Amino acid sequence: MAPGAALLRGRALVLEADILAALESVVEAAPFRHMTTPGGFLMSAAMTSCGTAGWVTDRTGYRYDRCDPETGKPWPAMPESFRRLAREAAADAGYAGFATDSCLINRYLPGARLSLHQDKNERDFTQPIVSVSLGLPATFQFGGAKRADPVARYPMRHGDIAVWGGPSRLFHHGVLAIKDGEHTKLGRQRINLTFRAAL
Ligand code: SIN
Ligand code: FE2
Repeated sequence: MAPGAALLRGRALVLEADILAALESVVEAAPFRHMTTPGGFLMSAAMTSCGTAGWVTDRTGYRYDRCDPETGKPWPAMPESFRRLAREAAADAGYAGFATDSCLINRYLPGARLSLHQDKNERDFTQPIVSVSLGLPATFQFGGAKRADPVARYPMRHGDIAVWGGPSRLFHHGVLAIKDGEHTKLGRQRINLTFRAAL
């Protein structure tokens, strides 16, 4: 996609059954919720997390939190299949030894989107981002270091993984509004797993 950024088509499918089962138990322990941006907007994608830290947003800003603000309890542990998929996909893209401590799980129902942004709440920008697409297809936007840089569009399907780091670690990215449809395994939704080294 760009220097330091790779698109691994179908890469999650080898672990599909394990990933979907683990996803179900994480979401049971920490249900999806719509969070508020610092500017006061409700995000159209619903989110939850697992791992040592979860990404949260509210009126006070964006941050990583060791506890789920809804329950005050630690986020569900990172499932072993998640950890392994993140490590292996990062290695395939040239980032050996990726140790993720945070998985943000986004759920997009048809119409939901994510506007162009940078992932910059993490402590260590030498570590890449690993982004796993599941369920309904999406159009992923991948731009550059500046918000005004040209933006390329990539179709993301169930099992595709995007990895970006190094020179593209802080590149802008987003997701266009999801089109209505029905996925055989996940139904009428798209799920994205974003693995990061946050703390
Ligand atoms: C994100 O940038 O947090 C998610 C991207 C995606 O859903 O593909
Ligand atoms: Fe992001």
